[in-house]
Amino acid sequence: MEYIFPIFDTILSREDKVKLLNQNPIVIWLSGPSGSGKSTLARGLDNALYEKGYLTQLLDGDNLRSGINNNLSFGAEDRVENIRRAAEVAKLFANCGIIAICSFISPTKEIRELAKKIIGDSYVEVFINCPIEVCEQRDVKGLYKKARAGEIRNFTGIDAPFENPENPDFEIRTDLHSIDFCHNQLLESVIEKIKL
Ligand code: ADX
Repeated sequence: MEYIFPIFDTILSREDKVKLLNQNPIVIWLSGPSGSGKSTLARGLDNALYEKGYLTQLLDGDNLRSGINNNLSFGAEDRVENIRRAAEVAKLFANCGIIAICSFISPTKEIRELAKKIIGDSYVEVFINCPIEVCEQRDVKGLYKKARAGEIRNFTGIDAPFENPENPDFEIRTDLHSIDFCHNQLLESVIEKIKL
């Protein structure tokens, strides 16, 4: 039997998708230096929300830079373009009702303001705060060592700036608290904003 289309000239809105998914599609924007714990916390949040029945999409510097942004460097201009594209992609997900969890260094005030301008009211900024010295001690990916040796240029916190967010919606101190505490703090911070 042929399917009878109920309506074929209506463009579905964000509100229609919100009703379908029964969640408020915010964009959770994690900003912090390399090694601060952004990706770990983003992955934890992604899993926790999935278990609670929410539909999310994780976007992070490492995966976007190997695909859609693979023509961009770490120079100041390209970092702006990296964040502009990431914010536009996050906005597409939010308009489709899906919660976007974004993990990008997003090192300057200007860059974060751009993301906020693109995303609008759905933008929720979380500062993953860990002093550069501690990130450098952790050096999970060995990149600080390479930056100190001059093998990597424009490395955030070494020879490129990281400006601390001044008015984030939430702040997580990964140098002061255990990883479990930080995961819980992040989940508790955002969950009320996600519920309808
Ligand atoms: S951003 O500054 O443009 O927001 P993004 O979050 O996409 O950065 O990418 C950061 C990741 O790229 C880091 O976690 C690290 O693994 C890698 N990376 C490689 N080179 C650099 C560099 N020069 N500065 C910072 N991160 C770098």
